Amino acid sequence: MHFSDRKVAAVFARYDRREQADSQRMRELGPAAFAIRDEFLLPVGPEVGAFLHALILARRPRRILELGTSYGYSTLFLADAARSVGAKVVTIEIADYKQAHARTQLAEAGLDDVVDFRLGDAVAMIREDSGSFDFALLDIWKELYLPCFDALYPKLDEESVICADNMISPEIARPEVREYRNAVREKADLQTALLPIGQGIELTVRWRDGNPKL
Ligand SMILES: C[S@@+](CC[C@H](N)C(=O)[O-])C[C@H]1O[C@@H](n2cnc3c(N)ncnc32)[C@H](O)[C@@H]1O
Repeated sequence: MHFSDRKVAAVFARYDRREQADSQRMRELGPAAFAIRDEFLLPVGPEVGAFLHALILARRPRRILELGTSYGYSTLFLADAARSVGAKVVTIEIADYKQAHARTQLAEAGLDDVVDFRLGDAVAMIREDSGSFDFALLDIWKELYLPCFDALYPKLDEESVICADNMISPEIARPEVREYRNAVREKADLQTALLPIGQGIELTVRWRDGNPKL
């Protein structure tokens, strides 16, 4: 994806280089990489980043929620698109050192005024937030997808969009993501589809009248 803002493009180029180095190291480590997963960006990747960016431009949300800031890779895409449509991003992360890194990167990109960084447990922090959301990215540890969804569902505006990552890979997360997909499909006011982009995105829209139950 090409970012038109020079500062955003420079920060993305740095993330991209780090992601390539991370991928190489993870390949070398094999299954042992899991034990040190907090050292890696674990990003949504460029294809999903570009998809989220385009979706925000089209949907023009007001308040975006990100669950799992990590080091800020996905936040950069969300914040750049949010600035274009006048939206704000609330992003939640439990690891302070990851959030600190993300803050620095977003400030260097000139996007820090678009982002409200929150530190703590996502489920508790969704519940504590007094507002509603009309766009959400779920990219947290997979056993938290269902509790996060349960906390978020009452706070979704009409015509809200939820994108949940890792629906297809890694394979080890399949039981948890299946639970999440089943929970979404049980809601009469949610339309949902699995998109085979990146590591698999479940794209869900809150729509009062229709649920074709695909
Ligand atoms: C897959 S990474 C997110 C990657 C990021 N969205 C990106 O594309 O760059 C998942 C993140 O969720 C964070 N996390 C795990 N449990 C959490 C919790 N209970 N509350 C908030 N964040 C949590 C982890 O520390 C990790 O950074």
